[in-house]
Amino acid sequence: RKKVNKITTGSATLDQLLGGGVESMAITEAFGEFRTGKTQLALTLCVTCQLPTSMGGGNGKAIYVDTEATFRPERIRPIAERYGLDPDAALDNIFVARAYTHDHQAHLLAMAAAKMAEDQVCLLIVDSITALFRVDFSGRGELAERQQKLGKMMNCLIKTAEEFNVAVYITNQVVADPGGASMFVADPKKPIGGHVLAHASTTRLSLRKGRGEQRICKIYDSPSLPESECVFSITEQGIAD
Ligand code: GTP
Ligand code: MG
Repeated sequence: RKKVNKITTGSATLDQLLGGGVESMAITEAFGEFRTGKTQLALTLCVTCQLPTSMGGGNGKAIYVDTEATFRPERIRPIAERYGLDPDAALDNIFVARAYTHDHQAHLLAMAAAKMAEDQVCLLIVDSITALFRVDFSGRGELAERQQKLGKMMNCLIKTAEEFNVAVYITNQVVADPGGASMFVADPKKPIGGHVLAHASTTRLSLRKGRGEQRICKIYDSPSLPESECVFSITEQGIAD
């Protein structure tokens, strides 16, 4: 039986909220508006996953499927230095693949699984899981097909996570939710992907902006974790307290 691995986010309070970190054999989804730290958390995990398990790592490499061309290699260097890793070696241990369509994204995820069979990979990132689906299925009548394809992709991801004991971290955007308006929330937002993503993601994190570089992370609809929140920071050296 494989042992669940927990990868540190770089923030002790966020790790605590998650019960130790981002888990293997599971899908962790972070959603929120632009600049809430979804990609910065992905970049930090790409480095921390390489640490030994005794240091909160997964002792393995990362695969990063980038759908919006937002992976920044130069951001890896200061994060690696923070953890005492050689920056060039750390970058070499991150396999970055740019996806151009949702079909291409599915193909890259199949290739990622093949890579895991031959290399020590402990983290798979898809940033973002939904962006290309929104582009490729923008028509009104295309929602059912979009959801069906997205569901299929999520099934593949969970299978891959379990088979290779890998942590899967995906990012997602939000849209306005007029139906969610209340006297407390004037302009509510909800994650894209509806029930398909809600059911497939093991842990869902709702990110929002705080003061300055501070961000607030809230556990969203988890069956196993309490619906609590924490504050973390985005720094030059990645996610921190
Ligand atoms: P979208 O992809 O646009 O939806 O947003 P996101 O949630 O992925 O945002 P991202 O993770 O890229 O966070 C962007 C934020 O990180 C911005 O507020 C930047 O100011 C901050 N940021 C990026 N690099 C650095 C850095 O080197 N130092 C500090 N302090 N902040 C940084
Ligand atoms: Mg981003």
